Amino acid sequence: MVTHPDIAEILVSEDQLEQRIQKLADDISAAYEGEIPLLLAVLKGSVVFLTDLMRAMSVPHAIDFMATSSYGAATESSGVVRILKDLDEPISGLHVLIVEDIIDSGHTLDYLRGLLLARDPASLRIVSLLSKPSRREVDVPVDWIGFEIPDKFVVGYGLDYDERYRDLPFIGVLKEELYAGS
Ligand code: IMP
Ligand code: MG
Repeated sequence: MVTHPDIAEILVSEDQLEQRIQKLADDISAAYEGEIPLLLAVLKGSVVFLTDLMRAMSVPHAIDFMATSSYGAATESSGVVRILKDLDEPISGLHVLIVEDIIDSGHTLDYLRGLLLARDPASLRIVSLLSKPSRREVDVPVDWIGFEIPDKFVVGYGLDYDERYRDLPFIGVLKEELYAGS
């Protein structure tokens, strides 16, 4: 089994990711039959998921990117999210699918959803690879979830700690001593 010295435990293996993402891609493709959805990935964590998901999908689609950041730890639960990079094109009349890496408190997706709905898309749906249900502070309607995971800090497959570990091919729990105190 592939692992890494900074990883305490592998939560989702490469094989599990591949199988689940193919199933998600099949379900999503069926839901958009006859449409050309816009897959909107939230940078940077969702990039690895997006590239695997799009290659597993059978309906034609476009992609675009947004980057957000929350206003730091003190205001984290206020749900104030800053847009660092907006979409390249208007989404009015388009079928938009938000592609997220992980939904934690739900504030990021809740904010994005409101912002995008105001731009009048034909539809707006959400797929998130991971979800930590025990951490939810706002209820966000997520259409597809890859895996529900416990309240542990995870890295890999796009997810980082301080910009590291995005390249790991699995989802792993970071050893606590590596982020304790931060
Ligand atoms: P939310 O607004 O609390 O739902 O935050 C979601 C965002 O927090 C995700 O898009 C990630 O960028 C980040 N995040 C939450 N939990 C983790 C984790 O366990 N590892 C890495 N990033 C995380
Ligand atoms: Mg994110």
